[in-house]
Amino acid sequence: MVTSGWRAWALFLYGLVLVLCSSVCLSQQPHVTPADCSRKEHPVVSYQALRPWVSEFSHPGVKDFSQLALDLSRNQLVVGARNFIFRLSLSNASLIQATEWSPDEDTKRSCQSKGKSEEECQNYIRVLLISGTTLFTCGTNAFTPVCITRQVGNISQVLDTVNGVARCPYDPRHNSTAMVTERASCTPPP
Ligand SMILES: *[C@@H]1O[C@H](CO)[C@@H](O)[C@H](O)[C@H]1NC(C)=O
Ligand SMILES: *[C@@H]1O[C@H](CO)[C@@H](O)[C@H](O)[C@H]1NC(C)=O
Ligand SMILES: *[C@@H]1O[C@H](CO)[C@@H](O)[C@H](O)[C@H]1NC(C)=O
Repeated sequence: MVTSGWRAWALFLYGLVLVLCSSVCLSQQPHVTPADCSRKEHPVVSYQALRPWVSEFSHPGVKDFSQLALDLSRNQLVVGARNFIFRLSLSNASLIQATEWSPDEDTKRSCQSKGKSEEECQNYIRVLLISGTTLFTCGTNAFTPVCITRQVGNISQVLDTVNGVARCPYDPRHNSTAMVTERASCTPPP
């Protein structure tokens, strides 16, 4: 009794998995057959096989691509990295505009004199928010955080510069998140 009940359940579950699997796999990848779904091991798609649909972007000497913002009105992607901000085409990740934003020599020297490494004393972009036609950006700026408001359509165009303290982390290793609100207020929520 117990055994047959268990077997019925197993069969039912197996059928359910097959049905679910066929529909999900078929709708997402027409070239995957239901037989692939009943394989014991999960099918793995190699990076090489996906290669034709993958767009890549890199820039000589630039790393820490950590912030992304979508500019849907232009079909572009704004990317914040270490000492750089980029605008890329959303369709193929090709470069539209690059703007360098590094700490100045004095700020770097002062950072290093406090025992921080050359690596730490760079400008890691940590806030990148689009609000209408402006792009709000903040960077760690060699442990002297600073925020710059730019034009979304021309990220080299600086509209405003403000102190980044309490808006952006000092330390590139610190996790943070940011948002823009209508009211310019720093009162904590009730
Ligand atoms: C990338 O896409 C943009 C916009 O669709 C197009 O103008 C450009 O020619 C494309 N570049 C390459 C390298 O395919
Ligand atoms: C973008 O802004 C920079 C800085 O103001 C200016 O020199 C440049 O001409 C602008 N580029 C375009 C395409 O308007
Ligand atoms: C940042 O977040 C990661 C992942 O949650 C965590 O492992 C790491 O310790 C955090 N870093 C700091 C400095 O808190």
